[in-house]
Amino acid sequence: MEVALYHPEHGYYEHRPNVVGRQGDFYTSVSVGRLFGELLAFQSAEWFDELDARNSAREPLQIVEAGAHDGRLAEDVLVWLQRHRPVLWDHLEYWIIEPSARRRAWQGDRLRAFAPKVRWFNAWEDLPATGVRGIIFANELLDAFPVHRLAWNQATGRWIEWGVTTAEGGFVWTPLPELHPAVTELADPAAALGDMDASERQTAWLAIAPLLPDGFIIERAPTALHWWTAAASRLKHGWLWTLDYGHRTGVSLNPAKPHGTLRAYRNHQLVEELLAAPGTQDLTAHVDFAAVASAGERSGLTTVELAEQSRVFTRIAQRAMQTPGIFGEWTRERTRQFQTLTHPDHLGGSFTALVQSRA
Ligand SMILES: C[S@@+](CC[C@H](N)C(=O)[O-])C[C@H]1O[C@@H](n2cnc3c(N)ncnc32)[C@H](O)[C@@H]1O
Repeated sequence: MEVALYHPEHGYYEHRPNVVGRQGDFYTSVSVGRLFGELLAFQSAEWFDELDARNSAREPLQIVEAGAHDGRLAEDVLVWLQRHRPVLWDHLEYWIIEPSARRRAWQGDRLRAFAPKVRWFNAWEDLPATGVRGIIFANELLDAFPVHRLAWNQATGRWIEWGVTTAEGGFVWTPLPELHPAVTELADPAAALGDMDASERQTAWLAIAPLLPDGFIIERAPTALHWWTAAASRLKHGWLWTLDYGHRTGVSLNPAKPHGTLRAYRNHQLVEELLAAPGTQDLTAHVDFAAVASAGERSGLTTVELAEQSRVFTRIAQRAMQTPGIFGEWTRERTRQFQTLTHPDHLGGSFTALVQSRA
């Protein structure tokens, strides 16, 4: 998955900027239109006002985005903040965490007008030691991290990890001799139940294990958890938030998904064969939000919100509409975009917002 998506030459996300949106393979909230970024900017400004109440020296504040792709969200946020919050604008910086030189170039092209405000970093380790005072944000990033794919073996009562190998001119799944060290916590099969206290987990596992079908598949994304922990450790004061689709509760043993949640998309269609045409189709898996939230809490953050995108964005929009002088006119176009972002049949039903903060 890592190679198929991120190989510097052949990786899916390295080919072309327009894989997101109508011309591409899938929609994200960013591709719905400017409203997503505008509401995000409005919420960010409210949070910055809280920080600024204790920032009389007007120290710089940052928005840090990761997974910025072609820079579209950054542009929507920056345009809104420049136009509507000039005082805040003066001491605001926009940082982008971007390991790919090619994507940095796409972002640089789009954000040329904001050049003095925007700074790029390869990875969390490259940030100034002072860290981040402000907001760290990622939309649909964690679902794009590589996952380990594990299948339940009823005969042995253990999880087996699926790897990928070549055969007959193509790629095929193959069971690995042992679990990768990154997922060894699953050596205790009950660990698949997620964060619970030990006795609760044991009781639940005794009830569930006999019912778990042979070959039942789950995914684990340790790199997503490491990423969140690294982000949390750089946040000195402020908020860390992400929007994505995934499990909100701790249990990733979803009876409705016996084949797991790893999916491939091309031209807005689900592609059955995950291993077909690597580098030309997106690969994505559900985010385990409970595990991500726990990782943040272990790094000292407080969970402010773990809820449907629709609920969170409805509240932001309500406040935005009550302050028309700042938010501008609520046009028909904004209404249409708002419905797409929040209606349960569109993005509102499937997406979750996780917001954590460090006081
Ligand atoms: C599903 S796309 C979402 C793009 C955009 N945020 C949106 O919502 O339209 C995921 C993006 O995250 C990028 N990405 C993956 N791993 C990353 C990492 N470690 N740091 C920064 N970006 C990453 C991918 O290259 C891709 O551009």
